[in-house]
Amino acid sequence: MKIPLILSTYPITKLNISKLGALLMKIFALSFLVCCRFLSALMPSTTKEEARFLVFGGKTGWIGKMILEDLEKKGYICAPAESRLENRDEILHEIEQKNPTHIINAAGVTGVPNVDWCESNKEKTLRSNIIGALNLADIAYLKGIHMTNFGTGCIYEYDEEHPLGSGVGFTESQAPNFFGSFYSSTKVMLDKLLMYYPNVLNLRLRMPISSDLSPRNFITKITKYPKVINVPNSMTVLDEMVPLAIELARQGETGNYNFTNPGTVSHNEILAMYQKYVDPTFTWENFTIEEQNQILKAKRSNNELDVSKLKEKFPELKEIHDSLIDVFEKIAKNS
Ligand SMILES: NC(=O)c1ccc[n+]([C@@H]2O[C@H](COP(=O)([O-])OP(=O)(O)OC[C@H]3O[C@@H](n4cnc5c(N)ncnc54)[C@H](OP(=O)(O)O)[C@@H]3O)[C@@H](O)[C@H]2O)c1
Repeated sequence: MKIPLILSTYPITKLNISKLGALLMKIFALSFLVCCRFLSALMPSTTKEEARFLVFGGKTGWIGKMILEDLEKKGYICAPAESRLENRDEILHEIEQKNPTHIINAAGVTGVPNVDWCESNKEKTLRSNIIGALNLADIAYLKGIHMTNFGTGCIYEYDEEHPLGSGVGFTESQAPNFFGSFYSSTKVMLDKLLMYYPNVLNLRLRMPISSDLSPRNFITKITKYPKVINVPNSMTVLDEMVPLAIELARQGETGNYNFTNPGTVSHNEILAMYQKYVDPTFTWENFTIEEQNQILKAKRSNNELDVSKLKEKFPELKEIHDSLIDVFEKIAKNS
C-alpha cells in the first residue's frame, strides 16, 4: 500500500517507512552522542584544593587502596566508600553525607581465585559489574559528579587487522572483539553503556603490575603458576599510572581511554626480569594457549592497545619495558 506524503511526491511504502524509522533512530542516536560529547566537554577541571574524592573499592580492594594511598600522599581530601554498588539508597545517602566532587570506581568482582569464578556466578557478577557500576554512574550523573571507572582492556584479542607483533593496537573507537569469558563480556557491556554518561571517564587497564608483589599483581601471578603461556601483551604499571588516573579525573576528562603503557611485553620477558632482579634461582615452564585453554573454564584475552590518545595527554609515559625496570628496581630494593 502506498501512502501519499503531503509536500512531496516521494511514495512511502512499508519498506520506506521502516527505513525512515531506522534513519530517524540513527539521527536521534547521533544527536544524543553529540549532545553527550558536548556535555562531557563541560565537566569542569578542579583544583587540588577543591577536589574531594570518594573511592569505591578503597577499603579492601588492591587497586582501590593504591588510589587512596596516592590521593592521601598528594594531600587530596579523600575517603573510601562504605556503600555497596548495588544499593542505590546507600550510595545516595553516602554521597549526600560526604559531598564528593569526584567518584572513583575501583570496585567490582574479579572472581576468586580468578575470573573463572564468574562463569558459575553470573548473577553476582552482573549485580556488581553492571548493575552496580551503572548505579554509581547514574547517581553521579544526576548529582553532577565526575566518575572515573577502572575498567579493562581485556575486551579485545589479536585479529587479522591487529596481528600479534605488528605494533598495530586497538584504538578506543574500535568495537571490542573478545567475549571469551563472562567477566570480559560484562566489561564489554559496561564499557559501551558507560559512554552514554557524559560525566564518566573509563580507563581500560590490562594485566596490572605494581612493585608490591600482592597476589593480584601480574608478576606475582605468573611466578606462581606451574606453567605459563608466552604472549606479548599491553600491560599497566600501576606505580606509574595510578597518579595519571587521578590527574585525568581532576582535569574532568571523560570518555574511554586505553590505559596501558605503550608497547607490549611477553610473559617470558617479565619472568627473565624477575630472575635477574629478584631471584636468580627462579625457573619456569611454558605451555601453549591451547594447553592453557584446557585447564581454564574461560578463555583469556591477549592483545595490544593503541595508547596514542593517552600519550597525547602524557607524552612522558614510559614504554612498558622501561616502566618494568623501575618496578623491578623497587622490588629488588625492598626485598
Ligand atoms: N586486577 C586486575 O587484573 C584488573 C585488570 C583490569 C581491570 N580491573 C578492574 O579494576 C577493579 C579493581 O580490581 P582489583 O584488582 O583491585 O580487585 P579486588 O582487589 O578484588 O577489589 C575489588 C574491590 O571491589 C569491592 N567490591 C566488589 N563488589 C562490590 C560491590 N558490589 N559493592 C561495593 N564494593 C564491591 C571489594 O570489596 P569487598 O572486599 O568488600 O567485597 C573490593 O574492595 C575491578 O573492577 C576490576 O575488574 C582489574
